[in-house]
Amino acid sequence: MAKPTINVCLIGQKFMGRTHSNAMLKVAKFFDLPLIPVMHTIVGRNKAELDEFRERWGWKNATTDLKGAVNNPEIGLVDVGTPNNVHAEHTIMALEAGKHVSCEKPLAGSLSEARQMRDAARKAKGKTFVWYNYRRVPAVALAYQFARAGKLGRIYHVRAAYLQDWAGPDVPLIWRFQKSVAGSGSHGDLNAHIIDMARFITGDEFTEIVGALAETFIKERPVPESGSKGGIAGGASGSAKMGKSDVDDAMLFLARMKSGAVASFEATRQATGNQNANRIEINGDKGAIRFNFEDMNHLEFYDATLPRKQQGWTNIMVTHGGDHPYVANWWPDAHIIGYEHGFINQLADMMKVLGGKVPEVPLPDFEDAYKTQLVLEAAMQAAEQRRPVKLSELPQ
Ligand SMILES: NC(=O)c1ccc[n+]([C@@H]2O[C@H](COP(=O)([O-])OP(=O)(O)OC[C@H]3O[C@@H](n4cnc5c(N)ncnc54)[C@H](O)[C@@H]3O)[C@@H](O)[C@H]2O)c1
Repeated sequence: MAKPTINVCLIGQKFMGRTHSNAMLKVAKFFDLPLIPVMHTIVGRNKAELDEFRERWGWKNATTDLKGAVNNPEIGLVDVGTPNNVHAEHTIMALEAGKHVSCEKPLAGSLSEARQMRDAARKAKGKTFVWYNYRRVPAVALAYQFARAGKLGRIYHVRAAYLQDWAGPDVPLIWRFQKSVAGSGSHGDLNAHIIDMARFITGDEFTEIVGALAETFIKERPVPESGSKGGIAGGASGSAKMGKSDVDDAMLFLARMKSGAVASFEATRQATGNQNANRIEINGDKGAIRFNFEDMNHLEFYDATLPRKQQGWTNIMVTHGGDHPYVANWWPDAHIIGYEHGFINQLADMMKVLGGKVPEVPLPDFEDAYKTQLVLEAAMQAAEQRRPVKLSELPQ
């Protein structure tokens, strides 16, 4: 018997447009789902590019009429893959039209827009999801399972860094360097992911940002002649004219968590030698975990309950289909997976939730992503005002 389907409208057809379209194409081939996504409409701003994208990825329709597409009664899920300054407009429109909504991270460029989204989600009948895709990397999901099973014990330290090095002075002033569009630079782009991972793995919440430092190393960049072709900045070309970059290239902060754990975070686009080093280490009294996305099929685990002379880091290849999260849907042991699989795993879980099932590990919704946004905002205020900021000072 044919399975139930849900028509999807995806807004944005560049980098995330490609990862989400790929997930939609693959998900039902690898997962046994209660609900199958149908690639109904792709929305963007450039009709010629959209038509090419529709053809290449197999969307049924392509349009620049965002309102018409979102309100189309045939659509069940609106997926938002646009820059941060339009997340609120696009998601609230979809929630008010009664749709389920998934949105790229960070939830928004500002706390007030994120709160409007969270409040709209509270009133809506549709469900919400946020693409914090690293939760769905099997090694990160395994770290979550270890923490829940008590293998880390009482957590003392969270040490997280997300290091990239693509943003040299020749990279044009694309939206990622404009505060009015992005909200912040490396902070909302990269710290958002590792804050979410820290909250997810530990199950703990942040109480205070004790200190923070933001730096813009490259203050002027060439004004773009053309936008990205679908990577972070790939293909964007700059003119001779220069414009001001008003976001952080790097953001570092120290924090306290409810349980008493202490945490350090660093996000930067200038960490020469690190292309996508999304790293987290968590140390508890019973054990510790270490993860680096550049080696994403491994989770390092330290079992401090073993006799001292036997203790040492175990490098677990997280590809055992019998035990490891998500991998039973993929390939035999050690036939490794990549970046795109986090998105496919997330879409599978979204379809499970919409089909009435419970996902393997929890999905972030707008309520959850607002908590990450509070941490982002507290750290920005701490950096700007050079003082500690308690999360309780911010509108909850
Ligand atoms: N989950 C992740 O790992 C990850 C990675 C990269 C980006 N992101 C997030 O995804 C979002 C998009 O980033 P990207 O890298 O895909 O950007 P991008 O520049 O590659 O693509 C943005 C797309 O949005 C479209 N767009 C912009 N404004 C629009 C509007 N007003 N109406 C309709 N379409 C509009 C553009 O035409 C383009 O197709 C951002 O929120 C970003 O933070 C998440």
